[in-house]
Amino acid sequence: MATSQPIGIFDSGYGGLTVMKEILRKLPQYDYVYLGDNARAPYGNRSFETVYRYTLQCVEWFFEQGCPLVILACNTASAKALRTIQQNDLQKLNPNNRVLGVIRPTTEKIGEFTKTNKIGILATSGTVQSGSYTIEIEKFYPRIHVSQEACPIWVPLIENNEHNSPGADYFVKKHLNNILGKEQGIDVLLLACTHYPLLLNKIQQFLPAGITVLSQGEIVADSLVNYLQRHPEIEQRCSRNGERTFYTTDSAEDFDNHASIFFGQPLQSKHLAL
Ligand code: DGL
Repeated sequence: MATSQPIGIFDSGYGGLTVMKEILRKLPQYDYVYLGDNARAPYGNRSFETVYRYTLQCVEWFFEQGCPLVILACNTASAKALRTIQQNDLQKLNPNNRVLGVIRPTTEKIGEFTKTNKIGILATSGTVQSGSYTIEIEKFYPRIHVSQEACPIWVPLIENNEHNSPGADYFVKKHLNNILGKEQGIDVLLLACTHYPLLLNKIQQFLPAGITVLSQGEIVADSLVNYLQRHPEIEQRCSRNGERTFYTTDSAEDFDNHASIFFGQPLQSKHLAL
């Protein structure tokens, strides 16, 4: 058995680092291993079958590293792969391990932020097409009406470090105008892609007053705190040496150069050939 049993955090690339940063604030004591599948990112425009296959392969790798718990800190993977992995694959791979996503913790809480019961979801095309947010919010808050907007250019803008440039203004305004035009009275916009918190300042700059913009990192971190309290059988298997290890399926040098924008501090990754 592996001596270290870290909590696994997965993303298609860099975005999950925005979630990991918040998790580390609340739960610094555990060991963590992060994997960004940068070589195959972005996932946002890929088919269900492809996102499922890539995500499953990464989950298998986390289990080989001894992770009792893996967080899919990627909305696209949570929308397109999580349910099948939980229902079909976990039993075969390791029925004692757990894989959690970011959509459920967010949709459980989102109703607390709206007064008008009108919410806008900003996400990748894949997440929007999956309908996962609409379906999950309906379960917890049937009174809430959800509008969605795919913002396919936002991830490439961020990955190319253009998110603070004047060129980004056009695409930020365009998608904000689109979503606010879909329904009068939206008072909460959810950034349902782990990359989007990097656009937060720009988004706020272009929004009318009275609209709350929600990022998921803190919500997911709070939900993990709660999950570990409710599941001592998993919590006791998570090792606690404060270790953090980072892997990318693409160039480690490139990852390290970009990662601090998302993580808020420098880090050193290793290359993983999948
Ligand atoms: N991190 C992914 C998400 O949260 C978006 C990036 C991608 O398209 O791969 O949906």
